[in-house]
Amino acid sequence: RSAIEVWVQAVSYSSFYSQLASLSPEVLVEILFSFSSFRIKVESFNKQLSLQEKINKIEQLTSGPVNFGGQINLKDGCDVTYCLLEYYERVNNQSAETPSQIYFGKWICDSQRDVLKKYNLSSRKFIGNTSMDPTLSMIMANMAHVREGSLVYDPFVGTGSLLVSCAHFGGHVMGSDIDYNIITGVGKSSRAGQKYRCREESIRNNLKQYGLEARYIDAFIADASLHDKLWKFSKKGLFDAIITDPPYGIREPTTKLGFKKEPIDDMKPEIEENHIPCKKNYNLNEILCDLLCFAAKYLVEGGRLVYWMPIYRNDYSDLNIPQHERLRLVSNCEQVLNNRVSRRMITMQKI
Ligand SMILES: C[S@@+](CC[C@H](N)C(=O)[O-])C[C@H]1O[C@@H](n2cnc3c(N)ncnc32)[C@H](O)[C@@H]1O
Repeated sequence: RSAIEVWVQAVSYSSFYSQLASLSPEVLVEILFSFSSFRIKVESFNKQLSLQEKINKIEQLTSGPVNFGGQINLKDGCDVTYCLLEYYERVNNQSAETPSQIYFGKWICDSQRDVLKKYNLSSRKFIGNTSMDPTLSMIMANMAHVREGSLVYDPFVGTGSLLVSCAHFGGHVMGSDIDYNIITGVGKSSRAGQKYRCREESIRNNLKQYGLEARYIDAFIADASLHDKLWKFSKKGLFDAIITDPPYGIREPTTKLGFKKEPIDDMKPEIEENHIPCKKNYNLNEILCDLLCFAAKYLVEGGRLVYWMPIYRNDYSDLNIPQHERLRLVSNCEQVLNNRVSRRMITMQKI
């Protein structure tokens, strides 16, 4: 619900107050001098506290080892909000008497949960079988540190769900996909009761729907296995973020273009000469290897790659996560899909 800069994390109030007494000088100076008004919010999980209990905790805190500078202001206009959070264990449907975790810190911002309704897929102009859920799209954009002015690219763009979330945070967004029908918005529709896609169904219209068209650069047809041949290399890098959901081969095929130079069994020379490249299987290892190499080359320094990787839970080990010498692993989060299978959201940063 909120982001909080946590200064103290303790398992009992005695440990809490001794940690509070040894806060770093920078934090103590900030609390004493930086704000002309403040308030303290007390929140509890698994137990409801009465108003009086909350007031007691605030009084205990303000008469403790830390000097709070400024006037108390309980209204929204105060300079700073401190948070005291308590977590209570529940045993046999009963909350414990004392909290098992106590946190104290400075409130940074509230989440934007209300925007999830706005970006709901059911009212989205253009969706496909694998359109990314808005919550996960927003998390990916955050993990990628997309902000005002970031240049963001999705090399497996599909219906552009990730472009929508990145544009929401101020990114200038572009994408590509091997599927002509997706990029041009034609072919069979994924909507229940609708046979073919209609004219309004396009990535551009998805962004337009939310007033984000100005942040849309474009999307084009391209095979991700050939990206290295597509872009003009610059030592400084190009993209601030590459954010993508590669195909797993379950709900969409994993293919790349073949080359006529490759030997093809039993093909007559006169046919081979005019052979139009066909599609070949593009397995997950190759996809991720190409993706990491591309990101390592075309991200700016400090830029981030965020992508999903499917795994069989029983066989998984952290060693399965692809590595690259120019990319540092920042985070690896699991989304369990069922007992056997999950997918992991991997975040890497170019070093
Ligand atoms: C999981 S979907 C991406 C869905 C997308 N995030 C969305 O919200 O609609 C993967 C996409 O990769 C595309 N794809 C498959 N092979 C590809 C390749 N070799 N190069 C580029 N795109 C490819 C598929 O056409 C599909 O649209």
